[in-house]
Amino acid sequence: MKRSLLACFLLFFIPLPAIEWLSPIAIYLTWESDPCTTMSVRWITEELQIGRGLSYQVDRPNAPVLTAPVATCRFPEDHHYYLHAAQLTDLTPGTTYRFTLDGLGHDHRFSTMPSSLSAPLTFVIGGDVNLSDVRLFDETSQQVARQHPAFVAIGGDLACAASKNPTKSEHCSQWITWFSHWYTMMQTENGTIIPVLATAGNHDVKGAFGQTPEQAPFFTLFFPTPMKKGYAVLRFDTYLSLYLLDSGHMSSPYGEQARWLAHELSHDEKMLHRLAVYHVPAYPAARSYRSNCSTAIRQNFVPIFDTFHLHMAFENHDHIYKRTYPMTAHHVDPHGVVYIGNGPWGTIPRSPKNLSSRNYLETWRSVRQVCLVTLTPTQRSVQALTYDGLIIDQYSQPVQ
Ligand SMILES: [Fe+2]
Repeated sequence: MKRSLLACFLLFFIPLPAIEWLSPIAIYLTWESDPCTTMSVRWITEELQIGRGLSYQVDRPNAPVLTAPVATCRFPEDHHYYLHAAQLTDLTPGTTYRFTLDGLGHDHRFSTMPSSLSAPLTFVIGGDVNLSDVRLFDETSQQVARQHPAFVAIGGDLACAASKNPTKSEHCSQWITWFSHWYTMMQTENGTIIPVLATAGNHDVKGAFGQTPEQAPFFTLFFPTPMKKGYAVLRFDTYLSLYLLDSGHMSSPYGEQARWLAHELSHDEKMLHRLAVYHVPAYPAARSYRSNCSTAIRQNFVPIFDTFHLHMAFENHDHIYKRTYPMTAHHVDPHGVVYIGNGPWGTIPRSPKNLSSRNYLETWRSVRQVCLVTLTPTQRSVQALTYDGLIIDQYSQPVQ
């Protein structure tokens, strides 16, 4: 980790027209802060490419062209790849921008998030993206891109490049495959790239559970969080707080993360929609209810969700779609939290186990799926979208 940090440079754009740049392996968009007024544009190359600039403008004729400083960072563990990042700030909410990298030859687009829900906002939450066969990853990704989501939030296990053995290096090639497929699949016909947010799963951190951020050098490079601890909240003006939590991989759900979560949620009382995304489910449908990690989520996150009235928690890791009844203190309560998700994006689904003891489940399906979430000022709704484009479950809550 220290070596990769030492290899970071912050450069201001100096036009070098004589250079012929190679196309990046992948371009992706994410957020480190306000999704309404910022965008982190990132790209991966196999060569250093210091001096390659990024220009951007509002997507309308004669809009002024702006440039942004680019930070370049070598991949961890001595791999010969480079991550380049430009943090665009002071953007206008709800606006489409064009951007281009020097020498790329074509533009891409992105849209900032709106400052209000004057129109419905639809985005996708999913997880367990590429555990086995990249064709499964592509198949579901194609369905996701067809929905034109405003962004995608991934609840862990992206490239699955990290081993259970905390001393083993990561499989860098799996990250390269992941990002190149993501870049290809997650853009619309006119080159609009869909931003991606992510929280880590066990396959993203060397050692899987009970580790530190230093054990996830790739994940933390690709998806930095302000506190560098693997968890964060993104606030979309006054209509959405999205909690990206770490279910015990590089930060424990006990102690500091739990205190932080309670503190942040306690300030979100007036936020219209309060959603959380994390990897290990509190309420599994296939894996053991009594596993250490699920128990830890129920003991730490769930009471905080209950106290501060989280609306929905999006869970993963279980590889089977499920939706619980609304629950408070582990009992059905019409005003409680709904736990939803679990279906794998890109791996073989599991069958349910011990259903008779899982009285918290309202529905389940053993299928690859993602959650299509739509927010309005009066309602939040979720559709479970399968890899082949079917809606297998729908659920909505009124805003109260
Ligand atoms: Fe997992």
